[in-house]
Amino acid sequence: MAKYLVERSGPLVGEVAISGAKNAVLPILAATVLTKEPCEIYDVPQLRDVDVMCRILRALGARVDEDPKEHTIVVEAAEITDTEIPYEFMKQMRASIFLMGPLLARMGSAVMSMPGGCAIGNRPIDLHNKGLKALGAKILQDDDSVEAIARKLTGNKVYLDFPSVGATENIMMAATLAEGTTVIENAAEEPEIVDLANFLNKMGARIRGAGTDNIRIEGVASLHGTRHAVIPDRIETGTFMVAAAITRGDLLLVNSVPDHVRPVIAKLGECGVVINDEVDGLRIRGDLKKLRATDIKTLPYPGFPTDMQAPFMAFLTTVQGSSTVIETVFENRFMHADELNRMGANIRVEDRTAYVPGDKNVLSGASVIATDLRAGAALVLAGLVAEGHTEVANVHLVERGYENFVDKLTAIGGKIRKVEDVA
Ligand code: EPZ
Repeated sequence: MAKYLVERSGPLVGEVAISGAKNAVLPILAATVLTKEPCEIYDVPQLRDVDVMCRILRALGARVDEDPKEHTIVVEAAEITDTEIPYEFMKQMRASIFLMGPLLARMGSAVMSMPGGCAIGNRPIDLHNKGLKALGAKILQDDDSVEAIARKLTGNKVYLDFPSVGATENIMMAATLAEGTTVIENAAEEPEIVDLANFLNKMGARIRGAGTDNIRIEGVASLHGTRHAVIPDRIETGTFMVAAAITRGDLLLVNSVPDHVRPVIAKLGECGVVINDEVDGLRIRGDLKKLRATDIKTLPYPGFPTDMQAPFMAFLTTVQGSSTVIETVFENRFMHADELNRMGANIRVEDRTAYVPGDKNVLSGASVIATDLRAGAALVLAGLVAEGHTEVANVHLVERGYENFVDKLTAIGGKIRKVEDVA
């Protein structure tokens, strides 16, 4: 397994071009199954998860042409020859679950091994099943696999007990070809939901209300191909905002969307970081004054994003004063605290709250392990300001969600390189 070797780097200064959003492009690629016609997707980030999704689409019978240099993928699902997602793909990427709704709507069936949990939580799919059942699907689920079958789908009202991003997306995609109207209540409101709805509407779907907690989908007989540029990645944007803050640097984030990162802008502002929405992009300056503590609580959008919790916690270890971090979205998303403590952070975790003492003028370098992609990014940021060397293992997790992470950091002064682990 590869690892990153990270050295104390001083302030990061310069420009970062934000890539397309992982969590938008994955459901959008799944949605291409809803039409026989070709769909051209632009601004696609080069990520492991995108490669896996393309391999799944090919395994289902779709033609997929990738042009990584142009960040473009063309999918033509003229023929779907299989509706079963092989286990080898499910275990690599639980986002394969996004194919359930589209396969059900296009072919009347979808079979996949249970996506299973991951380090941050057991990741159930009960809300996905509830929504698809409401549209008329029969769901057969055991410990190993889940099968959805539907001769036809009929619009219905679905209340989500939790505003699940994936469940909202799966139900919305399936509902586009259902007979009649579907209303999703207590829907997730993330920008990636809006991007998916925009893509679907360009395919001829009739979706209103994406971005609110009430989404209305009027079913249509068929969808056609289209062209779509994916929105910038708001979590990559937030990660580099925190990179400027933790290193007391000065970064210009090009191709970022300030409206998608309002909670991160607000929280960094409370710490004294200066953020300006300039013509060329979002300018983050952590070098202008002494930075102080604040408290964060993760919530579904538009609250503070759970995917920004780990990078922000790393930053909070370096400011004046103590902070609290409350994680309300996933049940086990504090494992990076143990790794930061190996660097001298002294974070105390009690159930859903982490107490971050701050005032760590210097973290000390250590060998640490990424437990999920955002934790991995957080440990890299900590390594950029820690005394001595930091080795971050399990970096394949980081490369699932951050395009050219090492190159982007190196270009702005980050001392980081990737080595294959000989062990
Ligand atoms: C999406 O995951 C993202 N992944 C996650 O990003 C992100 O952290 C999460 O949304 C929350 O914003 C992709 O978009 C590919 P959820 P998803 O369904 O859809 C519970 C990253 O780092 N739940 O909103 O799986 C679940 O257990 C990844 O890029 C149910 O109880 O998230 C969790 O506690 C990590 N039943 C909460 O909802 C269900 O049927 C949020 O999950 C579904 C979810």
